[in-house]
Amino acid sequence: MNDVLNFVSVRLDDENSELIILDQSKLPNELIYHHYKTKEEIFKAITGLEVRGAPAIGIAAAYGLYLDIKKHESSNPDDFVRHFQQTKDFLASSRPTAVNLFWALNRMERCLVNNKDKSLMEIINLLKIESGNIRSEDEAVCFSIGEHALSLLKPTMGLLTHCNAGTLATAKYGTALAPIYLGHKRGYNFRVYADETRPLLQGARLTAWELHEAGIDVTLICDNMASIVMKKGLVDAVLVGCDRVAANGDTANKIGTSGVAILAKRYGIPFYVCAPLSTIDIQTACGNDIEIELRKGEEITTTWYQKPMAPSGVKTYNPAFDVTDADLITAIITEKGILYPPYNNGIRKLFEGDK
Ligand code: MRU
Repeated sequence: MNDVLNFVSVRLDDENSELIILDQSKLPNELIYHHYKTKEEIFKAITGLEVRGAPAIGIAAAYGLYLDIKKHESSNPDDFVRHFQQTKDFLASSRPTAVNLFWALNRMERCLVNNKDKSLMEIINLLKIESGNIRSEDEAVCFSIGEHALSLLKPTMGLLTHCNAGTLATAKYGTALAPIYLGHKRGYNFRVYADETRPLLQGARLTAWELHEAGIDVTLICDNMASIVMKKGLVDAVLVGCDRVAANGDTANKIGTSGVAILAKRYGIPFYVCAPLSTIDIQTACGNDIEIELRKGEEITTTWYQKPMAPSGVKTYNPAFDVTDADLITAIITEKGILYPPYNNGIRKLFEGDK
């Protein structure tokens, strides 16, 4: 059994100027770490889901921006800023839905702007510190979400989760899986149902793997089995992560999440969204305004199969996320506390004082 909480999905090796990424696309069969030095490699790691999960994407992008700009210490200040902007825009174009990507890159930009009068060497050092803070703060944030979420749970509950919002998707602990890890350490005996999460199987390959390795009681189910386990009374609460929460509480998360929320409502099961403030986007009024990533049809027809499992040339539609309407969400659990509907006011208050 591994202590999965010690696996680090994204790590900076500053001495060798590289980013070490645990390749989540190869789990659970292979545990491979890639050492990336260029922004192109890091961009590919994000689009190819070697690093995935909203907070981990933000961390990887911030480190990627730092590593790239570090090579430009000798350029003149105008070139330096131009280059910073180009790299930021390039990394920001890797995936559209998880707002943590833009949040982290904007934080790096603010660090640059606030220190523009300093020497390039000093600015680079401050950007390194800022990217490190983005990582270390996420660990504390996830721990705090775990504590708040745990206060809503009882030791023998059956829990259902969708996709992977675990330690792999964050700096540590995860968001939706954080209370499960914290409870397990305190002797709770949760029974967790992990939706496999078609088409890319983050639930089967990552959530079931993480929890199984940690010695937590986890049962893998296909996505279309959520209804039966709920109807049988095996699920007391649903816990999911998110990629972007709009100002009204509408929440984008992995495709299939909104269906789980609709089922939970039907069976009277609380549906909890675990959301770091870095995933809440008050600039986006509601779910309709969230851009949903569309991915290649091969992920449905061919990936994971020895032979294609659909007629050649058939049309496909492969949205990577969907939006759960706020009225289906029992509570949104943040590092600052638990929000209950209606969400507009609670969300606005969280950001009061921010520009
Ligand atoms: O496409 P993915 O695997 O990056 O999608 C990830 C999810 O939908 C997660 O639930 C979300 O990012 C929260 S991770 C704490």
